[in-house]
Amino acid sequence: MKKLVALVMTLALCLTALCGVASAEATAPRIGISIYQYADNFMTLYREELVRYLTEELGVPAENITIVDGKNDQAEQTNQINNFIADNVDVMILNLVQTSSSASVIQAADAAGIPVVFINREPSAEDMALSDNITYVGAHASQSGTFQGEIVAETENKGDFNGNGTVDYVMIMGDPENVDAQQRTEYSIKALEDAGLKVNKLFEQRGDWDQTKGQELAATALTQFGTDIDVIFCNNDAMALGAAQAIADAGRVVGEDIYLLGVDALDEAVELVNEGKMTGTVLNDHIGQSHTAADVALKIAAGEQIEKYYWVDYVKVTAE
Ligand code: GAL
Repeated sequence: MKKLVALVMTLALCLTALCGVASAEATAPRIGISIYQYADNFMTLYREELVRYLTEELGVPAENITIVDGKNDQAEQTNQINNFIADNVDVMILNLVQTSSSASVIQAADAAGIPVVFINREPSAEDMALSDNITYVGAHASQSGTFQGEIVAETENKGDFNGNGTVDYVMIMGDPENVDAQQRTEYSIKALEDAGLKVNKLFEQRGDWDQTKGQELAATALTQFGTDIDVIFCNNDAMALGAAQAIADAGRVVGEDIYLLGVDALDEAVELVNEGKMTGTVLNDHIGQSHTAADVALKIAAGEQIEKYYWVDYVKVTAE
């Protein structure tokens, strides 16, 4: 008798589980995702966590998700978005190659009645006002810049190794079309000025978020300005990892005669911070951002009310 009861209970449990799966599949939205460039270190962490969370934690069947590489080419990405629209997906999660294309993307999606969750590259406020069926999930870029500047202002010599009374800096920028690059560049320096420090820009060039370019630019700056340089700011960690190599090659020592800052808190960068080979970085929370983007995508697809913006905080990372 006991065995029979156990068997019946097991069967009932299996059926419930099966029904659960079947109903998740029937109701789960079809999601089109385009990432500006798979080769980007930070966006690789982000997209892997996004898909993992959607499938493993939110139960969206893998076959409902189409994720594609924009290859840093807006024309290519526009085709991908048009395919999602033709395919009538329920919602799109888009990391645009160029935010300047957001107006046309919003209009096309709106005409097809497909909601969009923009991630990582914030469209202008003007474009965000074009539709009620869109949202942005990201972090306040200004905050990451401010944190970088504050880390330098909080050092013992307040960012002045050569003792000339100014913070002489090199700025290695991401893609300048991008709000993150613009605001990190602006606010890192603003934080120094707000702390009452004098600043002097020696060098500023775009490294497009790329490690190799970061290394090349830092090497060029180090050759050109040598010990005049107090600080190298990089708009992200990939470029800072490159700069760390250039600093070592130039025989300079972080913390002893130069400071080096990044953003993202990639594992490799956090390791360098712990070893003293980078002064600091700022955690760009890809987990918080990807989870929020996924949660909001499901809400929006279910026709629930959503906010226009969802913000995730940055966190300072230093050896302490
Ligand atoms: C930034 C990130 C960079 C790069 C960029 C791409 O938020 O810090 O490393 O991934 O996004 O848009």
